[in-house]
Amino acid sequence: MLNIDIISVQPKMFEGFLTESIVSRAVAKGACSIRTVDLKEYGIGRWRKTDDKPYGGGPGMLMRCEPWFAAVESCLAASSSVKPPRVVLTSPAGKKFTQRDAEDLATAEHIVFMCGHYEGFDARVETLATDIYSVGDFVMTGGEIAATAMTDAVVRLLPGVLGGGAAATASESFGREGMLEFPQYTHPPEFRGMKVPEVLLSGDHAKIEAWRMCEARRITAERRPDLV
Ligand SMILES: C[S@@+](CC[C@H](N)C(=O)[O-])C[C@H]1O[C@@H](n2cnc3c(N)ncnc32)[C@H](O)[C@@H]1O
Repeated sequence: MLNIDIISVQPKMFEGFLTESIVSRAVAKGACSIRTVDLKEYGIGRWRKTDDKPYGGGPGMLMRCEPWFAAVESCLAASSSVKPPRVVLTSPAGKKFTQRDAEDLATAEHIVFMCGHYEGFDARVETLATDIYSVGDFVMTGGEIAATAMTDAVVRLLPGVLGGGAAATASESFGREGMLEFPQYTHPPEFRGMKVPEVLLSGDHAKIEAWRMCEARRITAERRPDLV
């Protein structure tokens, strides 16, 4: 089973995600466990301080080392993982997270996500991480949405979580063929003059498969030429 710890100064941000999503069903099915850890519990002094001004000047506050080292080390000390745990630090300056990275993390037994805030982390905190990931070329106020996105992408790959199993994820965007997904249609066969392509109603599976491959190539070339 995959155990996930998410460390954050705003652990309440995960409440909806952990109770309403497919991830909550994965937890109920025993595919994974997800625990949020309040970084403030490891904060410094009476006020549980987790941030301070940057040396050398500059705007905003940085997250201090001591709470992060204490929190991550406490998660690792409690780990029952046989494989080396993965410690994922969220950062817009990280490697861009992809489906391959989700597949890789889905083979782990223990993942610790580190959600930054303010201007980010004191650089020494990065020495705790096995992986530093960005979820895109934009800057958010905190790492919670990034950790949520990565957790979702990983958990849906765990055996037994999705109805269609491995086949369901292999034929998706960024799946087996490394392309975007082909267009899909459901009822009705015609809506406001827009018809479902004839071939999908033909029952000819070879033709349908060929059309889907062709459409996947077309859409990938149009929207993500970098993948072609
Ligand atoms: C305001 S950001 C810090 C940005 C940092 N000063 C920089 O320029 O790279 C605060 C935190 O949000 C999270 N974050 C923001 N954007 C992110 C992204 N695209 N991917 C992953 N984490 C992100 C990280 O945890 C980061 O430490």
